[in-house]
Amino acid sequence: MPPKRHRRDVDSRSFSVLLLAAGLSTRMKSKRAKVLHELGGQPLISHVIHAIWRSKPSKIMVVLGHQADEVRRSVEVTLGELAAEASEADSKPTLPPAIEFILQSKQRGTGHAVMVARENLEGTRGPVLLLYGDVPFIHTAILERLLATHRKERATLSFITTRLADPSGYGRVVRDRKKRPARIVEERDCNEKERRLKEINTGIYAFEPESLLRALDRLRRENRRGEIFLTSAVELLRDEGKRVEAICLEESENLLGINTRQELAQAEATLRARVLARVMEGGVTISDPSSTYIDPRVRVGQDTIIHPHVIIEGPSRVGEDCVIESFTCIKSSLLGDRVHLRPGCLVANSRLGDDSTVGPFAHLRMHAELDGGATVGNFVEVKNSRLGSKSKSMHLTYLGDATIGERVNIGAGTVTCNYDGKHKHPTFIEDDARIGSDTMLIAPVRVGRGAVTGAGSVVTKDLPPNTLAVGVPAVIKKHLP
Ligand code: UD1
Ligand code: CA
Repeated sequence: MPPKRHRRDVDSRSFSVLLLAAGLSTRMKSKRAKVLHELGGQPLISHVIHAIWRSKPSKIMVVLGHQADEVRRSVEVTLGELAAEASEADSKPTLPPAIEFILQSKQRGTGHAVMVARENLEGTRGPVLLLYGDVPFIHTAILERLLATHRKERATLSFITTRLADPSGYGRVVRDRKKRPARIVEERDCNEKERRLKEINTGIYAFEPESLLRALDRLRRENRRGEIFLTSAVELLRDEGKRVEAICLEESENLLGINTRQELAQAEATLRARVLARVMEGGVTISDPSSTYIDPRVRVGQDTIIHPHVIIEGPSRVGEDCVIESFTCIKSSLLGDRVHLRPGCLVANSRLGDDSTVGPFAHLRMHAELDGGATVGNFVEVKNSRLGSKSKSMHLTYLGDATIGERVNIGAGTVTCNYDGKHKHPTFIEDDARIGSDTMLIAPVRVGRGAVTGAGSVVTKDLPPNTLAVGVPAVIKKHLP
C-alpha cells in the first residue's frame, strides 16, 4: 500500500503513529487475534486508537498480520465512530489523520514489524510514535509527554518505562552508572541480576524513522534467529552515539500490556471500577458496585438509582431520575427521564420515552419504542414495534412489527401474528383501541381508532374505527358511539 501525502504533514509539530497489531494470540491461547479481544465491550485495539486520535497525529500506520482483515475492519469502525463524534461535537472538526495499513505476513518480531513499514515511514515528517495494540489504558497525556521530551532532548529514540512490583513478562530496562538507559533485555534473555530489575519497557516509543531503520537493518544482518526485536535497537543506537531517552512514569496501571486471559480480566476490573466511579461522581446511586457492570460508553443521568445485579452495555443513555431494578440488562438503548425498569428485564436496541415503565420480566428488542408514559408489564415481548404515549400492554403478550397509537390497552395474551412462515407483516392499532385478552391479530391488519376486540378473537381483516369485533374469525358485532 503506497504512502499517501497528507496536508497536516507540513506542520512543524506534526508526527505520525505506527501501531503494531500483527501478532498472534499465543499466550491468550486463542484462535482470535489478541487485539480483537474485548475490554469494556470494545476491542483492545480500539482503546489504543482512541488515545491516538485525541493526540492528533497527521498519519496513523497500522501493521497487520494475523487476521488482518478483521483487525483492519475494527480499526476502520473505531475511526469512523470517532470521526462521527467529532463532527457532531464541532461544526468545523479538525482534519482526520490519514490512515495506512501495512501487511506483515510473517510475524518476525516487533523490530521486523517496523521494517515492513519502511516505505510508509519514509513518507513521514517529524517523529514517529510507536505503540503496541495490546496496551489499552494508554492516554493522550502520556503520548504528549513522550513527544515533548523526545523533541526537547533531540533524541533518536525515546521510550516510556515504569516500575512494577512484579515485572515478570516485560523487557527490563538496564541503566548505566549515570542512570542513562543502556539497553532493554527481554525476560527470556535476562540473567539473574537483570531479572530482578523492576523498571520495565512499556512498549511506547518515539523515534526518528531514518536512524531507527538503519539500526534495524544492522540488527537484521547480525540476527540469526530470524526474529528482530525492536528493543535491541536501544543498545545499538547508544553504541552509535545517538541519544536515547527513557522516561519513567509512575502511573503503571495505565501502561500495562495484555498478554493473557488473566491480565485481560484484571484490566476489565480496573476499567469497570473507573467507570462506576465516574457514574457515581455524576450523581447516580449504585447500591452495589460489586455486582454492577456499566460499559464505558454508557451515560447515566443525575439521581438515577441502579439496584444490584444490573448490566448496562453498549453506547446506552439512561436519563435522570430513573430506577433500574435488579437483574436487568440494558444493551445499546436510550432511556428518557423517570423511566422505571422493574426486575428481570432485557432491553436491547430500544428507546424508552420519559415516564415509561417496563417489567418485571419483559423483553424489548430490535427497535422497540415506548413513547412517554407507556407501560409494558410482565412476560411481554416487544420487537420492532412502537407503543404510543400512555398505551399499556401489561401481561403475557407478543408485539412484533406493530405500530400502536396512544392510550391503547392491549389485553393479556394478545399476539400480533406477524410471520406467515415466509414473510413478516405489520400490524397497526390506532389511538384508543382496546384489544381483548387473548386476541390474535393476523398481520397485515389494522385496528381502527377506538375499535374493540372481544376476548379470544382472531382478527383476520381490518377493523374500521369504533367497531366491536368478536369470534373466530372475528366479525363486526356493532358500531360503537
Ligand atoms: C513487548 C516488548 C517488551 C515490553 C512489552 C510491553 C519487544 C521485543 N518486547 O513484549 O520489552 O516490556 O512489549 O508491553 O518488543 N507485533 C507485531 N508483529 C510482530 C510481533 C508483535 O505486530 O512480529 C505486535 C503485537 O501484535 C503486539 C505488539 O507488537 O501488539 C507487542 O508484541 P508482544 O508479543 O505482545 O510483545 P511482548 O512480549 O509483550
Ligand atoms: Ca504484549
